[in-house]
Amino acid sequence: MVKIAVVGLGFMGKMHLSIYGQFDDAEVTALCDAHEDALTLGGSAGETNIAVGDSAADVSGARTYTDYSRMLTDGGFDFVDLCIPTHLHREYAAAALHAGYHVFCEKPMALTADEGRDMIRASKESGKMLTVGQCLRFWPMYVRLKEIIDSKQYGRVISGEFTRYSSTPLWSRDSWILDGSVSGNAALDMHIHDVDMIVHLFGKPRKVCSQGVKTMAEGFSHITTVYDYPDVAVSSVGNWVCSSGFGLAMRAFIVLEQAVVELDSSKQPMLTIIPDGGERIVPELDEKDGYYHELRSFADNVKTGSRPSVVTPESALEALEVTLAEIDSAKKKSPVSL
Ligand SMILES: NC(=O)c1ccc[n+]([C@@H]2O[C@H](COP(=O)([O-])OP(=O)(O)OC[C@H]3O[C@@H](n4cnc5c(N)ncnc54)[C@H](O)[C@@H]3O)[C@@H](O)[C@H]2O)c1
Repeated sequence: MVKIAVVGLGFMGKMHLSIYGQFDDAEVTALCDAHEDALTLGGSAGETNIAVGDSAADVSGARTYTDYSRMLTDGGFDFVDLCIPTHLHREYAAAALHAGYHVFCEKPMALTADEGRDMIRASKESGKMLTVGQCLRFWPMYVRLKEIIDSKQYGRVISGEFTRYSSTPLWSRDSWILDGSVSGNAALDMHIHDVDMIVHLFGKPRKVCSQGVKTMAEGFSHITTVYDYPDVAVSSVGNWVCSSGFGLAMRAFIVLEQAVVELDSSKQPMLTIIPDGGERIVPELDEKDGYYHELRSFADNVKTGSRPSVVTPESALEALEVTLAEIDSAKKKSPVSL
C-alpha cells in the first residue's frame, strides 16, 4: 500500500483525491490545508475549466492538519502531493524532501529557475524522489502524438502549432491565481503545459521570440511565441482571458511530410490523423486522463523505488526555463537565446 499526504485541498487537491479513489493500492493517510474549512472537503471545486471526477478516495482514516510542519513531523505516509499555490512549491517541497518523503509537486515547478534548482538539490541531498505535474506527457492524445512523431511513419515534422485558450480561472482560494506575482499569470501557470510538450517533442529551442498582452499588474494573460529550431517551425499561444462561457480548448496542429495530425480537445474525436491520399485515422485512446496516469506512474515509482523517467525534475526545470525566457522576451520585445 502506498501512503499519501495531500497538501492543498482546492481544485487540484480534490482532482488528485478523485484519482487516488481509483487506486486499490493507495491510501490517503494525511490531509493538510491552511484553511480549516477546506479539510472537510465540502463543496465542489467551483467553476473549474476541467471537471473534477467524483470517485473520491476514502479519507475517513486520514489525519487532518492546518500546520504543514506538524504533518511532516507526525509522518505516516510515503509521499507528499503538493497542490498548493505556486509560490509555496519550493519551500514545501524542500521541507518534505529533507524530512524524508518523496514529493509529487503540481506544475509549474516554481516561479523561478533558482527555486526549481533548489528543489532538485533537496531531492539529491535527501535521496528522495521528486516529480512535477507536467501532465501532458501522460495525456493519452499527446502520448499518441509523440509516438506518431517519433516513429517517423509519416516522415519528419514540418511545423507544429500549439494553443491553449481558457476562460479566466476564478475558482482559486482568495483568487491567488489572479495575482501574477504568486502564480506567474497565464504565461507561466497555464502556458507551461504546451512549453513542456514542445520541449518533450522537439528538445530545447535555441531561441524564443514572444509577444505578451497584460490585463493585470503582473505577468502576461496572453502569450504568443515562435521557437527557433534548425528545421521545424514551432509556435504557440497561451491565453486565459477568453469569455466566461468558453471553458478550455487545448490544440496541436502538426504538419508532417506525409500527414497532418490534428489534436483538439473541443472536437470529437479529439485526435485525427489525415494521411496523404488516405482515409482519416482516428486512433484509439486510453480513456483515463493524464492526471490519472501521472499519479499512477509516481505511485509505482514510490512502490518500486524506481526514479520517475517521464517527468524528471530536470525536464520540469527545462520547461520552466523556456517559459521564463518567453516571458523575458515578451517583456523586452526581442528574441531571447537559451
Ligand atoms: N496540472 C494542472 O492541469 C493544474 C490545473 C490547475 C492548477 N494546477 C496547479 O495546482 C496548484 C494548486 O492550484 P489550484 O487550482 O488547486 O488552487 P486552489 O486555490 O483551488 O487550491 C489551493 C489550496 O491550497 C491551500 N493552501 C494555500 N496556502 C496553503 C498553505 N500555506 N498550506 C497548505 N495549504 C494551503 C488553499 O487553502 C487551497 O485549498 C497550483 O500550482 C496550480 O498551478 C495544475
